[in-house]
Amino acid sequence: MDIKVCFFVLIAIQTQLCSGFLNFYMSLAEVHRFLGLEMELFYVRDGVVNDCAMNFVVPVPSKIESLYFTWESFARRTLSYSIGIDVSNEVALGTPKLNISKAGTVPNAAQTFSISLPCTGIVTAEVNVAIHVNITLMPINVTTLSFRRKKTCIKAEHLQNSHVRVDSAPAHSNSTNIFYSAVICATSLIAIIVSVSAAIHMKNKKLRRTREEMTNQAYLTAAPRNPTTSSYGSFRRMASYSLIDERCKDLQERIAELTIQRCRVRLNSVVLEGTFGRVYLGSYTDEEGVEEEVIIKTVTGHASQTQISLLLQEGMSMYSLNHRSILTILRVSIEDHTAPFLLYTYRNTTNMKVFLQKCKSNMEGVAHSLTTQEVVDMALQVIHAMQYLHKKHLLHKDLATRNCVIDDKLKVQIADNALSRDLFPADYYCLGDNENRPVKWLAIEGLLHKTFSTSSDVWSFGVLLWELTTLAQQPYVEIDPFEMAAYLKDGYRLAQPINCPDELFAVMAYCWAMSAEERPTFSQLQVCLQDFYAQLTLYV
Ligand SMILES: *[C@@H]1O[C@H](CO)[C@@H](O)[C@H](O)[C@H]1NC(C)=O
Ligand SMILES: *[C@@H]1O[C@H](CO)[C@@H](O)[C@H](O)[C@H]1NC(C)=O
Ligand SMILES: *[C@@H]1O[C@H](CO)[C@@H](O)[C@H](O)[C@H]1NC(C)=O
Repeated sequence: MDIKVCFFVLIAIQTQLCSGFLNFYMSLAEVHRFLGLEMELFYVRDGVVNDCAMNFVVPVPSKIESLYFTWESFARRTLSYSIGIDVSNEVALGTPKLNISKAGTVPNAAQTFSISLPCTGIVTAEVNVAIHVNITLMPINVTTLSFRRKKTCIKAEHLQNSHVRVDSAPAHSNSTNIFYSAVICATSLIAIIVSVSAAIHMKNKKLRRTREEMTNQAYLTAAPRNPTTSSYGSFRRMASYSLIDERCKDLQERIAELTIQRCRVRLNSVVLEGTFGRVYLGSYTDEEGVEEEVIIKTVTGHASQTQISLLLQEGMSMYSLNHRSILTILRVSIEDHTAPFLLYTYRNTTNMKVFLQKCKSNMEGVAHSLTTQEVVDMALQVIHAMQYLHKKHLLHKDLATRNCVIDDKLKVQIADNALSRDLFPADYYCLGDNENRPVKWLAIEGLLHKTFSTSSDVWSFGVLLWELTTLAQQPYVEIDPFEMAAYLKDGYRLAQPINCPDELFAVMAYCWAMSAEERPTFSQLQVCLQDFYAQLTLYV
């Protein structure tokens, strides 16, 4: 089943609640407490029930005593409710207490109520808790909402040792541990919420829009942050990288240093072609007469002056870097000013996006598809390259599979984004500001304020990981680029790909935390994925 099919199946399982306008959700703070995510979780939004989120059994750790829900009615008529709570094990869990009455009318302003789940401490058990809320618009139309929770209760005192596992797992370092457990905790719920919400979002877009205008503050999830850009000042003219390295020379000088004569380059075959951009395979013969195979990025005669200088700027951004997982520019030929040649070392590599798409088209036959282990290994190579880049005080700002190359042994190199706008036009959008940006790879702060940081590269890495597991599907294919900011602000993210292990999806989801500070660092990602890789190899 492919993602789209899955998407439509999910659309089908939402239901309209009476004609009522009701919101019933977990607040930002509450979702944060359970999942560590900056988002609100709507069970009912404008009367539309998110059945899938509803059906998910949320685990409640022993430490958490109370659940909070927020609701609000916009209906003109009164909505009455009654609440009943079933508990599967009354020995382990005492009678839950509400701080609102068991029956009444849904308030017209957002109200938060609590349900306490007091463990008795008599036995250790996992207790199923079902909270049934009947909402009545008119005497004949009753809708029952059922929320299910699994509460862990622990026997008091002497048995505690054997249950340490509930709160702490053995780990390498403290921060990794926190990250790791947050990831595990977030895993499965997000998968369901995100995918279903996507469906609901689409359907309710119009309705929601008007509501959003009315209740702006209460509704939106994002809190503006100070982007952590301090030591990574943006260098505007370099379209894609921030360079503040003092030793960094001016573009002209760098080009001069790499310049070679055109006659030393031979073009063999076109590997990628856009409206004006071309990527060739060819060869370069140095002064000693040694020939080597190269990738050549260039433009045809139709390219404008701006496009040519952008090619040079972006192509030079990886200048003088030296890392096995980074494709560094080797030489430049600018004799013909209308068509400069940018040369890169060729090691039987292909563009990674193209490579993944080929894997996919092969899947109908017998041929190669990627194993989870291979995906994790590829991701780790990207992480190493990104760590190196950040150590050099460079930001990538356009990390995506289209800007990576890969060889047949699955060795990955990240590359600059020169020509990508032309070669992969579907990945870039102009949001009315004359700037063609990789909107669906951008972190929320990059999208809104054009600020970038190491954490925004982490966000893009999450999308890259999603591309690896979907064999380069287009992310958020159903979302209008102009809607992306609102969509992300509402807490929606990419859905879990089919066959993508929960562990891997949790890593991605964590990269997409609203707040830059809450995203993992590349070092944390490295530890996490290395652990996961080790686990995978255990079972092979
Ligand atoms: C009850 O709800 C259903 C579906 O939500 C709707 O079709 C029906 O018209 C409602 N009945 C009344 C009396 O409101
Ligand atoms: C909700 O309504 C159903 C039937 O409509 C009823 O069986 C159930 O007892 C009600 N629950 C509460 C908590 O009122
Ligand atoms: C219920 O308790 C929570 C937390 O203690 C509080 O925020 C909320 O306002 C209370 N609700 C009512 C209706 O008293």
